[in-house]
Order: sequence, then C-alpha cells, then structure tokens
Amino acid sequence: MKTKITEAFGIKHPILLSGMAYVSLPHLVAAVSNAGGLGIFNSVANTPDQLKGIIQEIKSLTDKPFAINVTLIFPNGKENAEVALAEKAPIINFALGKGDWIIKAAHEYGGKVISTVATERHAIRAAEQGADALIVTAHEAAAHGSDIGGMVLLPQIASKVTTPIISAGGYCDGRGLAAAIALGADAIAMGTRFLLTQECDVHPNIKQTALKTNMEDTIYSDGIDGLPGRWYKNKRALEMSTGKTSYIEAMKSGWALRKQVDVPVWKLLFGSLQKRGVTELARQAIGVDALGKVLNDGDLENGVVPFGQVIGRIRDLPTCKEVIERMVSEAEDIIKSMQSKVA
Ligand SMILES: Cc1cc2nc3c(=O)[nH]c(=O)nc-3n(C[C@H](O)[C@H](O)[C@H](O)COP(=O)(O)O)c2cc1C
Repeated sequence: MKTKITEAFGIKHPILLSGMAYVSLPHLVAAVSNAGGLGIFNSVANTPDQLKGIIQEIKSLTDKPFAINVTLIFPNGKENAEVALAEKAPIINFALGKGDWIIKAAHEYGGKVISTVATERHAIRAAEQGADALIVTAHEAAAHGSDIGGMVLLPQIASKVTTPIISAGGYCDGRGLAAAIALGADAIAMGTRFLLTQECDVHPNIKQTALKTNMEDTIYSDGIDGLPGRWYKNKRALEMSTGKTSYIEAMKSGWALRKQVDVPVWKLLFGSLQKRGVTELARQAIGVDALGKVLNDGDLENGVVPFGQVIGRIRDLPTCKEVIERMVSEAEDIIKSMQSKVA
C-alpha cells in the first residue's frame, strides 16, 4: 500500500511502531522496520551515551529506515536529539517541545523529522516549521493523547495542513487503517497493538494482563505524570490519579531517574526555580519510574502502565510481520469493497 508516508520515508507499508519507553527497544524497532513498517525507538529513559550505542545496535539489526523519538520537555531531550542528529538517524521524531532546530539540522544531512502533536494549533505550527510528517495522537491513545477523539481531531487537522499525517490512537486492524485514510491520514502509528506481539520483550505478566483487559479498563488523568494521559486502571493508577502522591515520593523517583538518565544536579535544581520546574519534573519521573517497574519487573502493584482503549480489542500475540500484513490486506479489501457497498 503506497501513500505519501511510504514514499517520503522509503517504507513498504504505512504502519509505524510508536515510540514507547522500555517497550520500543531495538529488537522491536527492527522487527517492525524489517516487516516493512517504521520502528520508532523512544529515548526518554536513556542517557545520550547509551543512545549512541542503541542507534548502532538498531543499524546492526536492520538496513531499513527507523526513527529515534526524543521527548523535549525531559531533561535529556535536547542532548538525546543532538546525539540522534550526530549519528544521522534516518528519521527523528520529537514530542512535547519546540523542535524547529531539529528539523533544520536533520534536513542538512538528508534526514527527516516527524513532529508529534495533539492539537490543531501545534499541528499548524509544526507544518509551518517544515516537519516532514505529523503524528496526530488522539484521545483513544495510550499515554499522552489529545482531549479530542480521532474522529474529530484527524479530519480537522487534515483540512488545515498539507503535511502528511500519521494518525495514532486506537488502531489494531484493517478497519482502522482504512478509516484513518478516509479521514485524511497517510499512515497510522500503534503502541498498544505492538506491545502485544511476539517480538515485544516486556514482562510476560503485562502481556497476560493486557490480553484480558477490556476497553473500559483505562483512565485518562493528568494526576499520574502531570500531563493528561491514558493508563491501565489498576489500584496504583487510581491512587496516583488523585494527584496526592507525596512530595517525598516524587523527589525519590526524580532522584532515581536523574541518576538513570544522567541529569546533572544543577539542572534539577535550576528546574526547581522555574515555574513548571521540579514538581512537574518529579511527577514525570514518577511516571517513567513506575512505568519501568511494570514493564521490566511485571510489578502491577507498585507501577503504572499506559494502555490505549484499543486494548479491549486485542486478544492475540502475533509477530509484527503478521500484524502489519494482516492489517494492510484487510484495509485493501475494505477500500475495494467500499464502492460496491454504497452503489
Ligand atoms: C506501554 C506503553 C508505553 C508508552 N510509553 C510512551 C512513552 O514513553 N512516551 C510517549 O511519548 N508515548 C508513550 N506511549 C504512547 C505511544 O507512543 C502512542 O502514542 C500510543 O500508544 C498510541 O495509541 P495506541 O496505544 O492506541 O496505539 C506508550 C504506550 C504504551 C502502550
């Protein structure tokens, strides 16, 4: 299936793996790229030094295009973007911050840039800055999506920009892929669906729990890591969603994460002097710390994990290649059958 996105990025199918901390690891990224989609690595839990090695590792696992995601409000975001640029990552995907400098620098070596947005205003700004594509993340999505559902958000943004659009949030089959194209997208990105694949290396507890989780079993709250987001509704997420996590707990997670991503102490302290400073950082840290607990250790008592609403529609554990080929073939059939349905 050819679209503006497959052409722009040199991939076979218009399907992307979303960048997910502790999930979209090199093995999974390469599996999706090797199957003809585009794998995105998420660098939020890595130091710049680690990221350099990770880019080499992905290059050793696939000769196909892949992308590196950087979360710009995170303390390591700018440095990780600089590493991705220095390593000439084929595609860079930035989220939650101003990335015009990334677009400029990537274009200088022939790299491409995807900006992740969740509002019409941010989509228009990224398009004006020259992003090669936009990931538009709707309300159905796991983690930080829009307050608006995809059925409204996607056609609205598609009517305002000419930049190719990758729609994210709620996809798992060919019906979704065909619908996304009808609403104005040129590709889709999936997190929850690729979490439930053979090549995804998260703890088996998570996969077993996810396979039994229903559509209603997620919550959308800004109490967990400080930004509105969708999470699996376990006891811990319900506690955290009240926003009453203790300051000491927040600082403990912030400190642990500071060490993990190698953020200098001065940066943490400087952050505390700014308006959206240390509390926000600490809350974000709690989110990432709690996410690591779940995805690495399978600890669903003390951790939290993002699941999209689509979790309730996924009941199998195929390979990435099976997911991609099945979706494309279903979507092609649906698109072909549309005319006879309405004639
Ligand atoms: C387990 C899991 C972890 C995620 N971690 C991150 C993350 O660290 N950063 C991020 O920007 N998005 C994260 N996401 C969200 C995805 O990037 C993506 O936007 C979302 O999964 C798309 O919606 P879907 O799950 O309905 O496909 C995560 C999603 C899941 C399921």
